[in-house]
Amino acid sequence: MALPMKNSVFCLLLLLPILASCVEKQVYIVYLREHSEEKALHEIEETHHSYLFSVKKTEEEARSSLLYSYKHSFNGFAALLTQQEASKLSEMDEVVSVSRSNPKKYSLHTTRSWEFVGLEEDTQNNLKKDDLLLKAKYGKDVVIGILDSGVWPESKSFSDEGMEPIPESWKGICQTGQAFTLSNCNKKLIGARYYIKGYEAYYGPLNTTLDCLSPRDKDGHGTHTTSTAGGGRVPNVSALGGFASGTASGGAPLARLAIYKVCWAIPGAGKEDGNTCFEEDMLAAIDDAIADGVHVLSISIGTKDPAAYADDGIAQGALHAIKKNIVVACSAGNEGPAPSTLSNTAPWIITVGASSVDRKFTAPVVLGNDREIEGQTVTPEKLERKLYPLVYAAQVVNPDVPNDSIAGQCLPGSLSPEKVKGKIVMCLRGKGTRVGKGGEVKRAGGVGFILGNSPANGAEIAVDAHVLPATAVNSNNAIEILQYINATKNPTAYIHRASTVLHDKPAPSMASFSSRGPSVISPEILKPDITAPGLNILAAWSEVSSPTKMENDQRVVKYNIISGTSMSCPHVAAAAALIKAIHPSWSSAAIRSALVTSAGLTNNMGMRITDASGKPADPFQFGSGHFRPTKAADPGLVYDASYTDYLLFLCSSGIRNIDPSFECPKYPPTQHNLNYPSLAIPKLNGTMTVERTVTNVGGSKSVYFASVKPPLGFSVKVSPSILSFNHVGEKKKFTITVKAQSETASKIGKDEYAFGWYTWTDGIHNVRSPMAVSLA
Ligand SMILES: *[C@@H]1O[C@H](CO)[C@@H](O)[C@H](O)[C@H]1NC(C)=O
Ligand SMILES: *[C@@H]1O[C@H](CO)[C@@H](O)[C@H](O)[C@H]1NC(C)=O
Ligand SMILES: *[C@@H]1O[C@H](CO)[C@@H](O)[C@H](O)[C@H]1NC(C)=O
Ligand SMILES: *[C@@H]1O[C@H](CO)[C@@H](O)[C@H](O)[C@H]1NC(C)=O
Ligand SMILES: *[C@@H]1O[C@H](CO)[C@@H](O)[C@H](O)[C@H]1NC(C)=O
Repeated sequence: MALPMKNSVFCLLLLLPILASCVEKQVYIVYLREHSEEKALHEIEETHHSYLFSVKKTEEEARSSLLYSYKHSFNGFAALLTQQEASKLSEMDEVVSVSRSNPKKYSLHTTRSWEFVGLEEDTQNNLKKDDLLLKAKYGKDVVIGILDSGVWPESKSFSDEGMEPIPESWKGICQTGQAFTLSNCNKKLIGARYYIKGYEAYYGPLNTTLDCLSPRDKDGHGTHTTSTAGGGRVPNVSALGGFASGTASGGAPLARLAIYKVCWAIPGAGKEDGNTCFEEDMLAAIDDAIADGVHVLSISIGTKDPAAYADDGIAQGALHAIKKNIVVACSAGNEGPAPSTLSNTAPWIITVGASSVDRKFTAPVVLGNDREIEGQTVTPEKLERKLYPLVYAAQVVNPDVPNDSIAGQCLPGSLSPEKVKGKIVMCLRGKGTRVGKGGEVKRAGGVGFILGNSPANGAEIAVDAHVLPATAVNSNNAIEILQYINATKNPTAYIHRASTVLHDKPAPSMASFSSRGPSVISPEILKPDITAPGLNILAAWSEVSSPTKMENDQRVVKYNIISGTSMSCPHVAAAAALIKAIHPSWSSAAIRSALVTSAGLTNNMGMRITDASGKPADPFQFGSGHFRPTKAADPGLVYDASYTDYLLFLCSSGIRNIDPSFECPKYPPTQHNLNYPSLAIPKLNGTMTVERTVTNVGGSKSVYFASVKPPLGFSVKVSPSILSFNHVGEKKKFTITVKAQSETASKIGKDEYAFGWYTWTDGIHNVRSPMAVSLA
């Protein structure tokens, strides 16, 4: 079994290549030229064996080293190779590239916090208030594929009651395994597979106590994202603690779902510390999903350390999917609020940020001085009605804990039971999981706890089902409570039990955890594309995972609330599925364009959407704004792009061999000229003109007028400024010229971005594109 090799990149420099680390095998992904003629699948696999045999000693070794033959969407394989074998392979004629898979790079995009309540219709209000669902037949002809931690098939959200037979075009399978039989698939869950060879090559055989060797979800995340995208309607769902009750429904409630389990529990780590997904496993899943016939892929997986497209398994897999016109939605990541933290930035992906919904779970704190301070939670436990002694965690740590380094964090093992017993403890966010802090207060004998936001978290509250009475407060309130504790001789407090409040204002607002632009990999592409609900989202859950995912939490729930861009991604995947159902011939770029150009900028108070600190949010947080599926179904114009356009984009980024059958032209169009529905110009020196093409998908005869809101310090000219269309499908080109005004440099700093918009309007449709510009 191969062990992780830490310093493999330095191997070739070692004087003694016999050193154990250099003969250690690693997983490599090998791309080959496209087959010159049509080949049967077994023939393709034989070819892949023969490549391996040419670098391995025995045929047996060649066979056992092959993890995956990629046969459907591209010609290549994943195999265990030594570095020498890899370099031998890379010299062969038909071999396009050989790259080492980077283990542990990818994980699911949830923030690490979990709670539960019933599902509410309001979560996706703009999906439901009109006839969009009706027009899209609730997505019944669309298959959404989900790459995640598997599924809990018994959830009522996946019942197939009343559903029509599986479409004949479906070629997927129901792969059985541990605690997963053929009867776990049905007319709703029409496909289920799992991919673990890359994981096992790294960690050894799966510990089947930790996770199921099958598509079954032992984590909860996959069940949650799957039901958000396409779970059926389940009336009268109610939660532990009974916080909310109502009808649970995915965005496309009659869509068919295909599960591709690619993320697995990490041995030795607690479930709340996450999971891992290997790129060779994800590539194999996408390869199968393409052949199975999915229409939309929802991938709530990413990396904290974005790699160039040529080394990014999700970007590559997504590109193969785009070639077959499959829409791919991915989460932007949870590394905000710092800038340049996005993952999944490839221009063929829909990159989704996360924002709040208009619902909160109020649980105020009452201080001994009668001050009532707003808090939120979905913790079902409640306190006996009286005041309790209140302490700040940093004052009650164990004597051996250096409290300045972890001041107030309530990290595991840090609190002194002697000093905590019978008290309410104030803990601050920062390190560790939110639910873990509650676990620590409970371990130390506290009766309740207050979770205070750090300034970076601002006013945003991600609620949790803590293991003891609790509430969470924003950063200003956290400071007030700390000041009260500091200034009071015997501080006391009481925490009210939570109640659900709807129509909270302002909403939506951006989640502070949502990763921000600009894109590190392609600053010429404005990312994220869009935002959707990702804060405190209710959906189905695995019944072998507690709502906090903590080992000592024995509670079992059918529905749970969690937060993350993982939760917003399937909302957009669902919207894409509905648009696909209405417009089956639209390309994935057209569907993305429709979503992007129709997105909204205002909250429910009629003001610009804000961030968690209350400041107006910008396109590096929300892309073009909050998704509006109903408007997206009738966008008027779309910015279309083909698979070839993306290859040309890659050519001009210096990536020339991602599709070996494509030859880069000598002078490919610049990256700015990819026909994207938004515009980013980093380091503008003077003036730049870019070209765009819009396709009329609205009325047959229509006239559109351009309007511009230029970024501060720049002038923007759209030319021509009027476009007339005579038929549906007609295309018109125009240019956008952006010019730095002479006084700009004094207004905005170097590397600082200014934002604006350009919009085409025919009186019915507003086709709005965001832009971001910085100075050289
Ligand atoms: C598998 O995981 C369980 C639960 O964490 C653990 O108790 C057990 O020791 C593990 N088995 C192996 C072989 O590592
Ligand atoms: C909803 O569920 C609750 C408890 O689970 C039950 O008391 C109530 O009758 C149900 N209501 C409907 C309309 O089914
Ligand atoms: C550390 O703890 C001691 C008492 O345990 C307390 O007096 C001190 O204020 C704490 N320091 C910080 C930075 O909170
Ligand atoms: C606590 O109170 C003292 C004096 O009343 C003050 O100097 C100090 O800054 C306060 N600390 C905090 C954290 O508010
Ligand atoms: C901007 O363009 C001018 C003229 O083309 C050139 O001289 C100058 O070096 C450029 N500045 C930067 C920062 O690239």
